[in-house]
Amino acid sequence: MESPLSRIAYVNGRFVRYAEAGVSIEDRGFQFADGVYEVWGVLGGRLTDWDGHAERLERSLSELKMAMPMSQAALLTVLRETVRRNRVVDGIVYLQVTRGVARRDHAFPRPGTPLTVVVTAKSVDLAAEEAKAARGVAVVTQPDIRWGRCDIKTVGLLPNALAKQAAREAGAYEAWLVDRDGYVTEGSSTNAWIVDGEGRLRTRDTGANILRGVTRKTLVTLAAELQLPVLERPFTVAEALGASEAFLTAATAFVTPVVTIDGKPVGSGRPGPVAGRLRSLYLQQARNRSR
Ligand code: PDD
Repeated sequence: MESPLSRIAYVNGRFVRYAEAGVSIEDRGFQFADGVYEVWGVLGGRLTDWDGHAERLERSLSELKMAMPMSQAALLTVLRETVRRNRVVDGIVYLQVTRGVARRDHAFPRPGTPLTVVVTAKSVDLAAEEAKAARGVAVVTQPDIRWGRCDIKTVGLLPNALAKQAAREAGAYEAWLVDRDGYVTEGSSTNAWIVDGEGRLRTRDTGANILRGVTRKTLVTLAAELQLPVLERPFTVAEALGASEAFLTAATAFVTPVVTIDGKPVGSGRPGPVAGRLRSLYLQQARNRSR
């Protein structure tokens, strides 16, 4: 595992030690949260779901009228090199791209202003993550107070951070965000799922104001291969409490069973067989297809 002293970041074309790594105080990421990010899981030193995250990155950038800072091939090289230099075997690699540095003005800087590109990587204790999944996690509900473009993976994460903090303070792992009609949208940094009494998976459709989770997408495909029906429809908190299982997905959590919501048990109150099976199959596939 990397020590904080030896961690290396990629910043605008150079690999630098953390102590020397930095961006300008006039960076638009700092001033306006004018940037996007991606997080890839790393298993066995290789990136999981490379294509899904790379495609979403391109889409997030294009929705905000930013160009890809480099080709996908070059980006893969930079991400891999960051993983290697930080000796990450299992963990994550993080990429942030902002609209660059300019005198503070809400409108975009002049065309040609170089984008800021930062990449970091860190190790995760996979055994501890497995133990957590085997126990299942608690979630609490929080109102969804985010903006109308949650499909863009921007670094403007204050509502998500506030919701996650509320979860931490309640001793929970995640906050499930609930819209004005009482439907769960997604988690503060994960997608939300339930398994109904007939064994059907249910997760909110991506036409709604949520992030199009890459792990979610991979799992929809996996479920189809397993002939498990998936309903892409919203569910209420009451429906989740009445479900036989619940779980969440993200590049950082894979498939993680949810055992309580606001302190009340889901199903048996223990991780269920469907989530357990999906987690192990997801991990197996992710390893096989990793880059
Ligand atoms: N979060 N929903 C939100 C709001 C997220 O921020 C994330 C990812 C997800 C899951 O998406 P994916 O399966 O593509 O990781 C859903 C990342 C991991 C983060 O913010 O650290």
